[in-house]
Amino acid sequence: MAGKMWAGRFTKEVDERVNDFNSSISFDARMYRQDIQGSMAHAQMLGECGIINIEESKKIIGGLKSILEDIDSGKLKFDSTAEDIHMFVEAELTARLGDTGKRLHTARSRNDQVALDIRMYLREETAEIIGLVKTLEKTILTLADRNLNTVMPGYTHMQRAQPITFAHHLMAYSNMLLRDIGRLEDCRSRMNVMPLGSGALASTTYPIDRQKVCGLLGFDEITQNSLDGVSDRDFCIELASAISILMMHLSRFSEEIIMWCSWEFKFIELDDAYATGSSIMPQKKNPDVTELIRGKTGRVYGDLNTLLVMMKGIPLAYNKDMQEDKEAIFDAIDTVKLCLKTFDPMLATMTVIPENMRAAAAKGFINATDCADYLVKKGMPFRDAYKITGTLVHTCIEKSCTLETLPLEEYKKLTDKFGSDVYEAISLDACVMQRKVPGGPAPESVKAQIEYVKSKI
Ligand code: ARG
Repeated sequence: MAGKMWAGRFTKEVDERVNDFNSSISFDARMYRQDIQGSMAHAQMLGECGIINIEESKKIIGGLKSILEDIDSGKLKFDSTAEDIHMFVEAELTARLGDTGKRLHTARSRNDQVALDIRMYLREETAEIIGLVKTLEKTILTLADRNLNTVMPGYTHMQRAQPITFAHHLMAYSNMLLRDIGRLEDCRSRMNVMPLGSGALASTTYPIDRQKVCGLLGFDEITQNSLDGVSDRDFCIELASAISILMMHLSRFSEEIIMWCSWEFKFIELDDAYATGSSIMPQKKNPDVTELIRGKTGRVYGDLNTLLVMMKGIPLAYNKDMQEDKEAIFDAIDTVKLCLKTFDPMLATMTVIPENMRAAAAKGFINATDCADYLVKKGMPFRDAYKITGTLVHTCIEKSCTLETLPLEEYKKLTDKFGSDVYEAISLDACVMQRKVPGGPAPESVKAQIEYVKSKI
């Protein structure tokens, strides 16, 4: 692109290295649609307000439309020497329309233009991410519905703790994702505020109609202060935060899947289409997808950190540092979308192995709390019941048996409150079925949890 728009002020051409260093078109070109739509609305407003001639306004809109079509069709290629997408579109418009094209940038600065473009671009991406999270939610709900009676061990400290069901475990993730959707929606609503008209920083002397542009572009309201309008990137940081939390959830889920598909657990088997082999060990079937999600979570945290650090020391209003916002937030978006798109079908196609989950739950004295509760129900204070059960567990370990297989006389040695009904009380199914309070693992309770999430999405 020969000759800068600001050449009049300068006596030299910009150094090629500075030009390359300064240029953002390689990454902001992806906002071309939003840039052009924003310019069309701006041109329409300029015409309707009598700031430019209505005929010229129409010509500009027509020219922008043809540029959009030509980019869409691949006929028009981005000029890698253009400073950014805004300059590129304006220069192309002027090349096509001559002097009329030069009127587009009246009452506007690239500072409010870029603020507009990013908000428009991110609100669409946010909506898409919300859609992907909802798809994953549905997959989880289907899987949970099929596993209401699939008993598995629940863990604390990675030690078998109390029996739950696979559905109950899955619904924990479902609730996390529900909060993610809420955060993304909340973020999108604060993002959907229209900054154009802020100018470079101090608005403009032209009698523009900001509400008009706001309505044309589907924003909820206009920004209230022109300095804030051009220097606010809170919405990028909020989105990166919401995505980081979402990635953290996917990463925890991934970590569990990695454990579950190991030979030590074998609670699940990944579909062959979602696992990979080893170049040397013929027996291997590796959960690469989940490991990559775990790894990419760190990358997204890095994006969030980039944005936070980028913003923390810059004075009002616009500073070029802020051009760095795009690669960070785009990377966070691309990464989370890629993860969601791969994680969902991987989850949908994996095979659950209920026998192995139950076998794991049958070991590890996972029903010890229920044994203590049995005594409490027979009138014993909980602390005494807890102590007696601890002694029983110790006896079992010495005799290499479980609470289910320990003979009744061993129970009775500790207290005569034990009767033969203890075996029923500590059976895995009873342990789960009896936890039917809201939020608990009993099938009826998990069913209600499923219905709740369904009603929310
Ligand atoms: N490419 C720039 C950015 O992404 C656009 C705004 C440029 N503004 C300026 N005053 N140089 O931030």
